[in-house]
Amino acid sequence: MSRIEWVVGSCRLLGAISDAFDSSQPFAGKRIGTGIHLEPKTVALLMTLRRGGAEVVSTGNLGSTQLDAVEYLRAKGVHVVGGPTIDPEEHDAYLREVLSSEPDILLDNGGDLFVRYLESPYGHLLGGTEETTSGRMRLAPLRDRIGRPLLVINDSAIKQFAENYHAVGQSVLESFLRITNRITNGRRVLVFGYGACGKGVAVSFKNAFATVAVVDPDPLKRLEAHLDGFLVPERAEALSWAEVAITVAGATGVLTADDLAGLGDGVILANAGHFPAEIDVAGMKTHPSIVGAHNSAEGIETIVLEDRRRVHILTGGHMVNLNGPRPLGNSIESMDLGFALQARCLEAVALGKVPPSEVVVPVPRWIEEDVANAYLAGLRGRAPARR
Ligand SMILES: NC(=O)c1ccc[n+]([C@@H]2O[C@H](COP(=O)([O-])OP(=O)(O)OC[C@H]3O[C@@H](n4cnc5c(N)ncnc54)[C@H](O)[C@@H]3O)[C@@H](O)[C@H]2O)c1
Repeated sequence: MSRIEWVVGSCRLLGAISDAFDSSQPFAGKRIGTGIHLEPKTVALLMTLRRGGAEVVSTGNLGSTQLDAVEYLRAKGVHVVGGPTIDPEEHDAYLREVLSSEPDILLDNGGDLFVRYLESPYGHLLGGTEETTSGRMRLAPLRDRIGRPLLVINDSAIKQFAENYHAVGQSVLESFLRITNRITNGRRVLVFGYGACGKGVAVSFKNAFATVAVVDPDPLKRLEAHLDGFLVPERAEALSWAEVAITVAGATGVLTADDLAGLGDGVILANAGHFPAEIDVAGMKTHPSIVGAHNSAEGIETIVLEDRRRVHILTGGHMVNLNGPRPLGNSIESMDLGFALQARCLEAVALGKVPPSEVVVPVPRWIEEDVANAYLAGLRGRAPARR
């Protein structure tokens, strides 16, 4: 069995929704356009939408597309535009090609599709979903212009605790170990951003016996991090202290070339935020103080400063848990929960169950409760049979 089939077969919630969609066909006659990380778990989601009668036109996200996922989807009748790329212009052309098919519904990830839709809108767009924090921040100011139901999966309670908190932390830790093969015990780890994802990253490294510090411009977040048992040094002090620095802030330029002067020798930098702009890798590599750069191992690029300090950058600043050798991303169960929300939200939009006033809003409570109950019911099924 291939890894994709293992993942698809392990998505219990999506499997049950697919079975229901076989008869209800909520997307019959409708085209769903998407630009999302193309990897085995999104394959399970897109196949569920197909089972619901949708024609699916998809491209990937920048820097995370997995070729086997693309090939699998194409074999199953999904129209996949383009392939793996880290070139923003090429990616932009793929997104525009998805939109040129004028989908009835958009499943967006990072706001890429809705932002471009507004450049040349068409009348029959019913609405859609947005997966991420970064996308919500981009789309919220555009509410009036979008004017259609748009549900933000990230802003559901389930995604916040199941994926952002629990799963991102685990998979970033798993990725650090897998890519660097370095110890975490006693290591000084600095986390930029103490939102749901940053909290999970911080606690996962703490549970792996690292000493963890947090930098966040929000004093409430710093206070919370302190009460949770993390160090909260000033930014400059934290930079020189860190042996590992991880950005997960949903912001641009969290670490830039200006920070090179303050970093310790051998520091490892990684990004877990959605866009590869949290660490300005290009700016660092072209800074006048850099005298050399080389690949140290798959997924690790080392830049050398004129004073001989070395800075190791993981996966070119792209999301560390979806890149590097054999990337796995977040746990299957956490993504099954989030993608069950996706499938049920897209169904609600397709069936006109979400009023047009609900633009860039969290997932309706009734959908969250349905998904939570479905997951919990499955746990009962796992108990050993009574004699
Ligand atoms: N890697 C993954 O699998 C994965 C999964 C889900 C979300 N994400 C992404 O992770 C990022 C964070 O998501 P979240 O839900 O935790 O966001 P959030 O908005 O809840 O928290 C972000 C935190 O970062 C802080 N911040 C902003 N700018 C900062 C800076 N320059 N330095 C330090 N801290 C800063 C904010 O004050 C806030 O506390 C987003 O880009 C999101 O899309 C990644």
